[in-house]
Amino acid sequence: MLSLDNAFSDEDALEFDARVRRFLKLEGEVSYTAEPKIDGLSCSIRYEKGRLVQAATRGDGRVGEDVTANVSTISEIPQRLAGAHWPEVIEIRGEVYLGHAEFAALNAAAEAAGQKTYANPRNAAAGSLRQIDPKVTAQRPLRFFAYAWGYVSAPFAETQWEALEKLRSWGFKVTPQSRCVKDADGLLAAYQAMEAERPHLGFDIDGVVYKVDRLDWQQRLGFVSRAPRWGIARKFPAQQARTVLEAIDIQVGRTGALTPVARLTPVTVGGVVVTNATLHNADEIARLDVRIGDTVILQRAGDVIPQILSHVPEERPADATPYAFPHVCPCPLHTEVVRETTASGAETVVRRCSGEFACPFQKLAHLRHFVSRRAFDIEGLGEKQLVLFNEKGWLTSPADIFRLHEKRDELLELDRFGETSVANLLAGIEARRTIALDRFIYGLGIRHIGETTAVVMARGYGSVDAFLAAMDKVAERDAEAMQELDDLDQIGGAVIEAAAAFFAEAHNRAVVQDLKAQLTVLDAEKPKTDTAVAGKTVVFTGSLERMTRDEAKAQAERLGAKVSGSVSKKTDLVVAGPGAGSKLKTATELGVQVMTEDEWLSLVGAA
Ligand code: IVH
Repeated sequence: MLSLDNAFSDEDALEFDARVRRFLKLEGEVSYTAEPKIDGLSCSIRYEKGRLVQAATRGDGRVGEDVTANVSTISEIPQRLAGAHWPEVIEIRGEVYLGHAEFAALNAAAEAAGQKTYANPRNAAAGSLRQIDPKVTAQRPLRFFAYAWGYVSAPFAETQWEALEKLRSWGFKVTPQSRCVKDADGLLAAYQAMEAERPHLGFDIDGVVYKVDRLDWQQRLGFVSRAPRWGIARKFPAQQARTVLEAIDIQVGRTGALTPVARLTPVTVGGVVVTNATLHNADEIARLDVRIGDTVILQRAGDVIPQILSHVPEERPADATPYAFPHVCPCPLHTEVVRETTASGAETVVRRCSGEFACPFQKLAHLRHFVSRRAFDIEGLGEKQLVLFNEKGWLTSPADIFRLHEKRDELLELDRFGETSVANLLAGIEARRTIALDRFIYGLGIRHIGETTAVVMARGYGSVDAFLAAMDKVAERDAEAMQELDDLDQIGGAVIEAAAAFFAEAHNRAVVQDLKAQLTVLDAEKPKTDTAVAGKTVVFTGSLERMTRDEAKAQAERLGAKVSGSVSKKTDLVVAGPGAGSKLKTATELGVQVMTEDEWLSLVGAA
């Protein structure tokens, strides 16, 4: 399950429309649906032959929790699809939520019974859906709106609007406030209307979702990273509050960056109690001129970390002094704090601990990242255990995790570590000794290499050995290896520099080799091999007339081809449009096959 990019203003909404039209090369207007963005929990519910067979939460997008039993208790979710003509298999996506009245009643009952109350309807819905006992869930008046679908065995609509109608006819609730608009002005009007309706809805919404109505266009627009190009979430303005800045603490991140964190007098913003806010860096503190003791204006938008917007000059205590950023790291090494530099050597606003891997905070933060859900996802190895094992000296690098079984006897001597918990922990570790290449890469915690980039790199290199061999070359700044990395989709200068810097460091190479020796790293899912262009390296040059460059690239990659920006001996195919110049010339000289856009489209079966 993917997510949506955010828009915050009319300009952002207009830019979204412009982007869609640019991508599709359209002169005319585009129709969109504008739907309330329900503030609940997204859920995917699979129907086979019209029967509900499985339900899952979003989780990390790839793996969620199985909530079939609990979802089956929600009366607004049909056990059997109504009407007719539903695809044999369909995954319905939508939002589980709790209305305002139901939320108030639930909290009142909890309070009367002396139990914990929920901060907002969304948390209450999440808590209710995750109940271990479906009988408890059944007593919570959870509701559901359907708005999308995942896998379908056969297409069932031509537009989003038609799809919503179908979902309604199959027995789902669809937000009545949704509307279909015919152009960019319609997007703005729909937002205004929704903002006006918001207080009267009886349930929480946090914005408006805009979606390109035509599904064939959605298909062409495709996705970037984890979000579709065909949709965007226009968020309502953030909520603000005033509170007092009590202290500024410095946190050391995984990459050694020192982040000032504001400790605040607790305050409720948009239904959530906020006690901390990030201050980003020293320059931000100077820009805001915030001092300890100041009354500050705080903003919280959706799930975003709360931000300090400004201070209130009239409320400043007489003795407040400007904040002095520390010159030494708060880590036990008390290393000197240095300014971070970019690839080109320019100073940035970030201050870092110069202790690198010798710095215990960085080490711990690296390990924390390594075991996190989207990386190695090691069950039973949480924050407490990491800190404890690190203090004991048993765990200072990722490979140590896989040697922890040697410490079985010592583990058993620890407080609160019985036979079962030690066995569970070691089993949790063993379960990850075999790992997917993308998780391995992501787990290394290299700057700028997030989950999506890790997947791209894993697919690009295929195996851990190929990956590491390539990285060694990148670290030596081998031109061909750097070009090869650059050719991977969505990988650019920052990633290349970060990879080069990471693997240039002997200590890091040793940590990685040590880790690799403990693991079986699975080869990445191979790109498609059963298409006419699978495995081929393709270069697009000149202007394309039936699709945009981005679209051509996305299509080629979907079919298992590799798209490169430059022609070399390794190029299999050059697709040349009008105005092609030097690349076409090189291709002809090298004897590389050249074809027109139309020939390409018929080759890939899209003509
Ligand atoms: S469509 C590719 N429509 O917003 C994602 N999402 O940021 C397609 N949401 O995870 C999602 N109301 O939990 C869609 N009318 C709506 C929605 C909606 C709420 C949530 C959903 C999703 C998140 C996207």
